[in-house]
Amino acid sequence: MTTDPQLQPVLKVRNLAVQFPTRTGVVKAVDDVSFDLYRGKTLCVVGESGSGKSVSARSVLQIVDRPGRITNGSMELTRPDGSVVDLAKLDPRGKQIRAIRGREIAMIFQEPMSSLSPIHRIGEQIGETLRIHFGTPKDERRTRVIELLKQVEIPNPEKAIDRYTFEFSGGMRQRVMIAMALACNPSLLIADEPTTALDVTTQAEILALIKKLQAEYGMAVLFITHDMGVVAEIADEVLVMYRGKVMERGPVEQIFHAPQADYTRMLIGSVLKLESKAEIRLKREPEAIAPELLLDVRNLSLTFPGGLKAVNDVSLTVSPAKRSVLSARAVRARPRWDVVSCVFTIRSKAPPISAARTARSSTSALPRARN
Ligand SMILES: Nc1ncnc2c1ncn2[C@@H]1O[C@H](COP(=O)(O)OP(=O)(O)O)[C@@H](O)[C@H]1O
Ligand SMILES: [Mg+2]
Repeated sequence: MTTDPQLQPVLKVRNLAVQFPTRTGVVKAVDDVSFDLYRGKTLCVVGESGSGKSVSARSVLQIVDRPGRITNGSMELTRPDGSVVDLAKLDPRGKQIRAIRGREIAMIFQEPMSSLSPIHRIGEQIGETLRIHFGTPKDERRTRVIELLKQVEIPNPEKAIDRYTFEFSGGMRQRVMIAMALACNPSLLIADEPTTALDVTTQAEILALIKKLQAEYGMAVLFITHDMGVVAEIADEVLVMYRGKVMERGPVEQIFHAPQADYTRMLIGSVLKLESKAEIRLKREPEAIAPELLLDVRNLSLTFPGGLKAVNDVSLTVSPAKRSVLSARAVRARPRWDVVSCVFTIRSKAPPISAARTARSSTSALPRARN
């Protein structure tokens, strides 16, 4: 797709076909798909659910779920030593593909817990990848893991290394998974909807992180998403899929400004529709009378004992109709949290006292409130 003849693609996929035999017939999950991946560049594969994005990506690593199998095509990987191997021809359980998985090609998923263990400390898990692929000795592993945690911008990496995954938020777990993926300095990173389960702010942070690390490591990225907004953020090239087939492919500018396929126009249209709804909401007249407030939180900050800021200067209001939300939140607060500073102001007449009690009684650490 890139026209520069000097650039050799890291991965060259041609006419890939993957089929699932079912009782009612054969499902062509991937049907004649071709693409190239280049160092330092991101190819976004976009399409609605079931269009064959994940199966295409999993084929590269030879991890297609049974009874699916690659029925046609080639996937030529250029290795760091310049040799070329056709991944389509490798035995899915063989030594060769196992040496490539995780080392030359790493993959991250939508759900970090699908590749992270809940019972091992994160340092052990990332270190294990280093031990398996490079035989790195224990003390060196710790130094390298701390370095990786720093690179993925996890606060206090010296302490975080000994924590368990359940102690992290979704965004932080995604960072741990990225650190694990980067441990062996892969030439290709496959990211299958890694930001889909995250809120928009965390999603933006993770996308920025992947972009930054790609620039540092110079890897090729195959990024799968169903979201054209994400495509606009991260793609250099785009491959649009529908029902296993490639509908369109080209540079990101072309896809957005001169889409050729009706299907691409429809995908872009669905994003624009959402944006226009937001505009309508913004244009709405403000409510004439301000609703009576049950709770008015100003400048709330929560810090974990290790120094990690869980909440930083947050202000919010709760109207009487949303009282149930308030108690749910209060219950979730753990005594371990250290409230740095917060101001609770109750402005309602009848229920305010009980609301204040709910907040205090269920969160023993909370009432270190000032004012
Ligand atoms: N384990 C499976 N068994 C049978 N069919 C499957 C299996 N996994 C995927 N498929 C088929 O492949 C199609 C594409 O799936 P997938 O690549 O996961 O879609 P997506 O674009 O949402 O990632 C599905 O619609 C389904 O028909
Ligand atoms: Mg998928």
